[in-house]
Amino acid sequence: MTGPRAEIGVIGGSGFYSFLDDVTEVTVNTPYGAPSDSLFVGTLAGRAVAFLPRHGREHHLPPHRINYRANLWALRALGARQVLGPCAVGGLLPEHGPGTLLIPDQLVDRTRSRVNTYFDGEPRPDGARPGVVHVSLADPYCPQGRKAALAAAAGRGWEAVDGGTMVVIEGPRFSTRAESRWHAAQGWSVVGMTGHPEAALARELELCYTSLALVTDLDAGAEAGEGVSHAEVLEVFAQNVDRLRDVLFDAVAALPANEPRTCPCATALAGQAPGIDLP
Ligand code: ADE
Repeated sequence: MTGPRAEIGVIGGSGFYSFLDDVTEVTVNTPYGAPSDSLFVGTLAGRAVAFLPRHGREHHLPPHRINYRANLWALRALGARQVLGPCAVGGLLPEHGPGTLLIPDQLVDRTRSRVNTYFDGEPRPDGARPGVVHVSLADPYCPQGRKAALAAAAGRGWEAVDGGTMVVIEGPRFSTRAESRWHAAQGWSVVGMTGHPEAALARELELCYTSLALVTDLDAGAEAGEGVSHAEVLEVFAQNVDRLRDVLFDAVAALPANEPRTCPCATALAGQAPGIDLP
């Protein structure tokens, strides 16, 4: 692929692409269809970064309509091997109130309608036939990316929670109180709508993936009163967007170089026959 290249991908809310220098807008087509939007490629902290607005620049895509496969494929096609995924989440425990930054180390998938693999046995429109592949997702997030994110937050005086489980619900509705209390009773920390299949698909492409979860509300179970509102999520996200951007900036700077990568993410397909060429 010709044109601008990136070593790091950031999939995030639309508040972020203004922070890249010398931005070029790049349209990427993939065998899985179109990503959520153009990719914005530029430099950040001296690194070549591709930014992709997860919900589209007009925020028109709800979580269950995002083409996660196209998004991750497009980032890899531009050269990215490390992906940072900031997202808004609800806190399930009173101690994880709005404004908490949590770098999860575990994930629970409670989605139901999403295409969650490149290896579905179906021939692609271009005739390529994916093999039957089973990646390990025992540890869904890149250990080096997590380290970089935690160090970046600490360096900005924002003590992030190191680890915790993100449960990903189908949405677009928020949880009922019973669901929320059940999630908390399982020992899960935060609830979101986009962390799966993003993390799983990243692993299938041997990408390093790190989630930076910003708590915007105490989910219905932890909160008395009306429960969560979208307006509340947007408001708290907006209040924290500047410092989240600072943390992303420093995390990008702190990520290790793409090659050689020493984390397990880089060899997730080893010994298996993917049948499709990764871009
Ligand atoms: N994103 C932000 N807050 C959320 C919540 N309470 N549940 C699911 N996704 C969210």
